[in-house]
Amino acid sequence: MIIVVKLGGSVVCKDPSKAIADLAKYADVAVVVHGGGCMVNEVMKAMGLQPKFLTHPGGVVSRFTDYETLRAFVMTMMWINKNIVASLASLRVPALGLSGADNMVLRAKRKEKVIIVDERGRQRVVDGGYSGKITEIDVKALLPPPLKVLAPIAVSEKGELLNIDGDQVAFEIASRLMSKLVILSDVDGLIIGGKVVGRLTPQEALELAKSDEVKGGMKRKLIAAAEAAKSGVETIIYNGLVESPIEKALAGAGTHIIPSS
Ligand SMILES: Nc1ncnc2c1ncn2[C@@H]1O[C@H](COP(=O)(O)OP(=O)(O)OP(=O)(O)O)[C@@H](O)[C@H]1O
Ligand SMILES: [Mg+2]
Repeated sequence: MIIVVKLGGSVVCKDPSKAIADLAKYADVAVVVHGGGCMVNEVMKAMGLQPKFLTHPGGVVSRFTDYETLRAFVMTMMWINKNIVASLASLRVPALGLSGADNMVLRAKRKEKVIIVDERGRQRVVDGGYSGKITEIDVKALLPPPLKVLAPIAVSEKGELLNIDGDQVAFEIASRLMSKLVILSDVDGLIIGGKVVGRLTPQEALELAKSDEVKGGMKRKLIAAAEAAKSGVETIIYNGLVESPIEKALAGAGTHIIPSS
């Protein structure tokens, strides 16, 4: 059985070593997607650019990717991608690092317009920049061996490189493969009232996504996990900063969003 592992930007920026060491054990059965938003922000600031974000109706926040941002995004993601591959090499695990443009593995359509909520809480339509919506994934090309490490970059029909949210990529791959999805971030799972929520149905995940206690990237994960559950995918959200995070997640740690049978 294939397992899709999303290595969150929060893990990449803080300490990916434990997650990567664990990944080595699953090299024959895993597909890896990584994030890296925090490092993109750092690089942009070093380039004298200010990261920009958009708030969508429902509260999900995403990066606004103009052309300058796209350059920083692609450069940074490839740096992260090759470093993951190099760390795996140090563990004698051969891995193939890819962007979605390579061999057209991940195709997307540029979002011409997106709906946002402005500072005054009013909905507005703005240019979508270089962000995309996935149209096609060559999942066969992502199966091991060798272990594939995919950066969240897609290619459009016009040959544009596009920024795709890493969680979205991971969810779409898992849905197409009907595989389990382990989302590694820097928290022990979904935390409500100070405690990790162990199990959720898709309906419960959607309800909690609306809660004031759920913000930012976690909101997006819950909404996508609920959607993926409809196609039979079990999503586990767990902490990639601990020892053997994948093994622990598969053994029951973290928050499990389970398809309702
Ligand atoms: N109720 C909640 N429970 C747990 N985490 C939450 C909650 N609400 C918000 N969060 C935040 O969600 C974050 C995880 O999502 P985020 O998108 O920031 O990280 P990531 O997916 O690891 O990184 P990237 O998007 O770069 O891949 C946590 O760091 C946490 O601060
Ligand atoms: Mg995120």
